[in-house]
Amino acid sequence: MILVTGASGKVGSEAARLLGAQHRSTRALVRDASRAPRADVEVVTGDFDHPDTLDAAMRGVETVILVSPAVPAQEIAVIDSAVRQGVRHIIKITSKASADSPVERRRGQARIEEHLRTTGLPCTLLRANAYMQNLLALAPTVKQSGGFLMSAGDGQVGMIDARDVAATAARVAASPEAHAGRTYWLTGPDLITYDDIAEELSDALGRTVEHRRTTPAEHRVAMIRAGVPEAVATSNSQAFGLIADGDAAWLSDEVTSITGTAPRPLRTFIADHIAAFT
Ligand SMILES: NC(=O)c1ccc[n+]([C@@H]2O[C@H](COP(=O)([O-])OP(=O)(O)OC[C@H]3O[C@@H](n4cnc5c(N)ncnc54)[C@H](OP(=O)(O)O)[C@@H]3O)[C@@H](O)[C@H]2O)c1
Repeated sequence: MILVTGASGKVGSEAARLLGAQHRSTRALVRDASRAPRADVEVVTGDFDHPDTLDAAMRGVETVILVSPAVPAQEIAVIDSAVRQGVRHIIKITSKASADSPVERRRGQARIEEHLRTTGLPCTLLRANAYMQNLLALAPTVKQSGGFLMSAGDGQVGMIDARDVAATAARVAASPEAHAGRTYWLTGPDLITYDDIAEELSDALGRTVEHRRTTPAEHRVAMIRAGVPEAVATSNSQAFGLIADGDAAWLSDEVTSITGTAPRPLRTFIADHIAAFT
């Protein structure tokens, strides 16, 4: 049995859908049953803040695809529950984690990874570059004002469609022993800039979409004014500043080598989500 956590989210819902379509015995953990993925899988409700619900969800589970907003206490609770319930392998979705990163969520990921290592449980880390799905946050201003504000300068990003992160997780879950102890760096097929994104959106929409440049400090203020929680705006603006400095300019071919299928390019992501921008 495979347990997928965060199964109402971007990666979890697609991983559950793929595993269900492959008729793999799968359980999808959601905190609200009305947000269960449309997938041919068993659904269980549970909350990362309530370990008893996690223990119930873990019963009979051999492999966990661990996806969550990556709050350390919550993911550590899931890992500890997995250990209690005899889970054999954890596939953790993570980012460019580092204990000394200026970005708090990366330090948090490093804490979680360290905890996972100390349990000795076989695991696989899927370290993904930025998700194309983040671009959906730009959709309201693209619709309203024909452009978007960004503070990543000319920084390139090996941006990946979250559906390809999910496809990789599902493939690893199908034969976890072959991937024990491995860390995979997951990216899309191309290094793209926010100018490229504006151009692709302009092509798809048939009108000019402007990339409006700002600094990370000004961007942070604008995000907070737009209603983004302060901590998230701070982390996001730090991450955009790092992108400007080349931090996300990395590509790998690991999605293709694991899944046998090339990851989706930006054009496909935009075509599949065009309704959000119109
Ligand atoms: N975004 C990026 O660019 C990026 C890049 C690299 C790596 N990552 C990593 O990807 C992971 C996030 O994945 P994602 O984008 O798929 O996340 P997501 O779409 O935001 O999904 C998060 C999931 O966690 C669930 N959840 C939140 N709080 C919960 C709780 N207390 N109990 C149970 N479930 C709870 C959410 O449920 P609800 O639907 O009920 O809220 C949702 O299903 C993080 O580890 C992040 O660091 C992200």
